Amino acid sequence: MADQQRAMSSVLLAVRTMARRALRSATAPDFLQLTALVKYVERFPEAIHQLNEEKLLFRTLEDRQPALARTVARFRRDHAAMKGYGIRLRTALRYWQQGDPKAGPLAANVANDYVRYCRQHARAERQDLLSAALRTFSREEWEQIDQALESVVDPVLRSRSRQECATALQKLAGRPAA
Ligand SMILES: [Fe+2]
Repeated sequence: MADQQRAMSSVLLAVRTMARRALRSATAPDFLQLTALVKYVERFPEAIHQLNEEKLLFRTLEDRQPALARTVARFRRDHAAMKGYGIRLRTALRYWQQGDPKAGPLAANVANDYVRYCRQHARAERQDLLSAALRTFSREEWEQIDQALESVVDPVLRSRSRQECATALQKLAGRPAA
């Protein structure tokens, strides 16, 4: 889970860096690369990883530890908010690519807000949920959770090198590897 959260933050940081660099140099960013990165965030962290967390961890925690219901509800709302950031980011990038001059700074700002929110969420989950989860789940249950998480073919987590990762992301964007 921590790996997934780190991958998400790293990819969002890459989006922020590319956007800021392009704005500083007053040049167009590599939109294909940016699209690949935001597509990854949409398809993996926002869709699969968050759903897995909700399905595999949140539900059982709520059932077995009713005192945690409000905390779990807060994390569910965080997930929804993150999807909102994702939509705003993808929209800003689309307008930027279409030539809207205001959309570039907006994309950089949304990427910045998103990565900060994402880190804060990961920190809060570690602090408020992990110890409770460790107490709640049995060893066998953890094994099942690990198996379920590992069965996801995440192109960033599965890559063993920067190059492999870049190729996997390009594939995701439907662009042949360079
Ligand atoms: Fe989460």
